[in-house]
Amino acid sequence: MVKTKLAVLVSGGGTNLQALLDAQNSGILTAGEIVLVISSNPKAYALTRAEQAGVPGIVCSRKALGSQAAFEAAISQALADHGVELIILAGFMSILSEDFTRQWPRRILNVHPSLIPAFCGKGFYGLKVHEAALEYGVKVTGATVHFVNEVPDGGEILLQKAVEIQPEDTPETLQRRVMEQAEWKLLPQAAQMVSEEIGKGKET
Ligand code: GAR
Repeated sequence: MVKTKLAVLVSGGGTNLQALLDAQNSGILTAGEIVLVISSNPKAYALTRAEQAGVPGIVCSRKALGSQAAFEAAISQALADHGVELIILAGFMSILSEDFTRQWPRRILNVHPSLIPAFCGKGFYGLKVHEAALEYGVKVTGATVHFVNEVPDGGEILLQKAVEIQPEDTPETLQRRVMEQAEWKLLPQAAQMVSEEIGKGKET
């Protein structure tokens, strides 16, 4: 079966990108192939990870491009140039407009570091999610992989995994545990599932 072409959109450290690259090498992600990495941040370490893996990496910065429309036009052009069929948001911290998401129905995945609908939506990203979970005092959190639509963190849920909170947790220790136990497993699994589905669609 021809592999589904994947683009991974990043903004920071890129550990989820690394999990996807490792999953390709270990045979967990076989139905899809990462053909492009797009970073919203020119300094993201994720770009180094892409380079080390021999995957083309480009920067599309909303700030540098001057407007949301120019930012999304640059992303769309890069996706088209590489024949991308599925977009994976892996710690991508820029908002994509409804104009953009409408063009990719069930073709954009996102990983979020909580059990949606808890601690999600506007303002909940990165470490802030874990700070909020600890402040609230929940005993269980986790991660969610979902399709992206026009509602922030509101698209159909594909996979979720619970992670226990320990009494001595800081936002940083909790973030790490949620990544290790949930995000780095769920995201490659979801990428495989949807890549397979897209591949089957092409056969018929
Ligand atoms: C991850 O925990 C991811 O779930 C989160 O940012 C981190 C990025 O880490 N994403 C969001 O909060 C999106 N709402 P990474 O760059 O090491 O993959």
